[in-house]
Amino acid sequence: MEHSHDIVQLPPNLYEGSFAHSREALTLARELAALERPISLYYPGSSSDGSFTRLPDVHAIHVDSALDDTAIRDFEVLGAEAYRADAYTWSPAEPIDVVTLINPSGIDEDRVLGMSQLRDDGIVLWASWSGVPSRLVERKDMRLIGVISDPGEGDLTVDTEKLGDYFTRKAFTALDDSEQAFFMRRLQQYLDQYGLDLTVPAESLYEHLRAPDGQGLARDIDYQPPYTKAGTFFIFRKVASETS
Ligand SMILES: C[S@@+](CC[C@H](N)C(=O)[O-])C[C@H]1O[C@@H](n2cnc3c(N)ncnc32)[C@H](O)[C@@H]1O
Repeated sequence: MEHSHDIVQLPPNLYEGSFAHSREALTLARELAALERPISLYYPGSSSDGSFTRLPDVHAIHVDSALDDTAIRDFEVLGAEAYRADAYTWSPAEPIDVVTLINPSGIDEDRVLGMSQLRDDGIVLWASWSGVPSRLVERKDMRLIGVISDPGEGDLTVDTEKLGDYFTRKAFTALDDSEQAFFMRRLQQYLDQYGLDLTVPAESLYEHLRAPDGQGLARDIDYQPPYTKAGTFFIFRKVASETS
């Protein structure tokens, strides 16, 4: 897909990114965090995602343990740095303003951030095809400052209110009709598969799945209650570690 804002087309060994509007999301995140000066951006586990290249005021550093020489060369042609390295042990040589974690499946985010040189007041831009950044939101040195929603047409919006809703699963009574119907279908499939009868009201079972100790059954049924709000890009600001 071609993006009208692209200054230079990506070389063949790089791809445009798992999320169509990562570049616009970065712009919004920078505005929210008031990162107006030229920035250094570190993208561990980037693979060959060239989304954050070709931005005149962004110095991008890519690291992936599976990066091949052709991709490294193409990143360099675009003025970005790229290394085939383990992000658990490799560390940028300069302070970093933005760490991007895009589809960081299989990556221990704490270990990567520990090596990232992210400066205080710098930000983490996180997005994944699945789940929410539950590890980052637990960290004392990270504050969630906004969530960007992407309706798919590039018309991104930033939400800065009630951000806990992105981590709170909806009560049964808050589900809309189609969400309830989806839950009932999944439940019925599970019951049919194992020849079981439902011995409690469906609502009680749903509420059990919503609780931490219901996660095992939720996985068995292959159903996760939806969160109160859903977003795509999560923006965390690094705050200075508290001293006691
Ligand atoms: C699911 S892919 C996502 C790639 C890219 N960010 C995207 O969204 O298209 C995860 C990437 O992380 C890389 N990776 C996993 N663990 C890593 C580590 N310890 N150091 C460097 N790269 C790692 C893998 O090689 C893989 O390319």
